[in-house]
Amino acid sequence: MCAGTVNEMSAWKAISGLQIAIDGPSGSGKGTIAKMLAEAVGLPVLDTGLLYRFIGYCSMQQGADDEAAVLACMDASLGDMQWKPGGIFVNGENIGNRLRQQDVAAAASRVAAMPGVRSRLLHVQQDIAANGCVMDGRDIGSVVLPGAQAKFFLTASLRERARRRWSQLQGLGAEASLDAILNEIRDRDTQDAERTHSPLQQAGDALSIDSTTMRIDEVVDRMLSIMERRELISKA
Ligand code: DC
Repeated sequence: MCAGTVNEMSAWKAISGLQIAIDGPSGSGKGTIAKMLAEAVGLPVLDTGLLYRFIGYCSMQQGADDEAAVLACMDASLGDMQWKPGGIFVNGENIGNRLRQQDVAAAASRVAAMPGVRSRLLHVQQDIAANGCVMDGRDIGSVVLPGAQAKFFLTASLRERARRRWSQLQGLGAEASLDAILNEIRDRDTQDAERTHSPLQQAGDALSIDSTTMRIDEVVDRMLSIMERRELISKA
């Protein structure tokens, strides 16, 4: 099941089964952009980071440290989880805001480096995207959906990404220091880019966009016009 509803009133019409892969580091804007693109073209959207955050959160709660313990914890928790419009639900409760906190981010990055976790989540993600999807993450264009017709790699300066995350956390009512976030993002960048299995990487055929000085809607417009030129979408 996909997160995000398909909007019948979308401004654009996508070719059948269109898969749009958006990768990039934390705070590059990919989550917000993926949602806006999905709405514009009438496709469901999947924030794959939330899945890794969910596994990280369950591991934290269970005190699961090594990979075998994390995998056991994952088997037990995935059955209780529902991925539906608006995020991740456990026992009917949307735990998305809890998953977006900083302590969970660090746990997510740790479990995301485990090959067993990645291979189990790979199939979950591929099944969900089978009929077309906008999917954002770190390895979507390179590993999860290598055949995606549209691939984007979003970047932004470290300071700008930290500022965005800080403002997002403020919006959630969480205490946060900009310097602490900047250091935490820098550490996570290193961990995500240097891990052996599916590191953060730009697929060879992905188009890179630096959003440091661009507004979100400008980035979305650029992506839409690229996909229109490539005849992947047309005006509805
Ligand atoms: O995008 P995010 O900050 O919510 O991601 C949380 C963590 O999950 C991040 O450290 C990288 C990892 N992740 C990943 O390894 N592969 C993905 N496809 C998505 C996220």
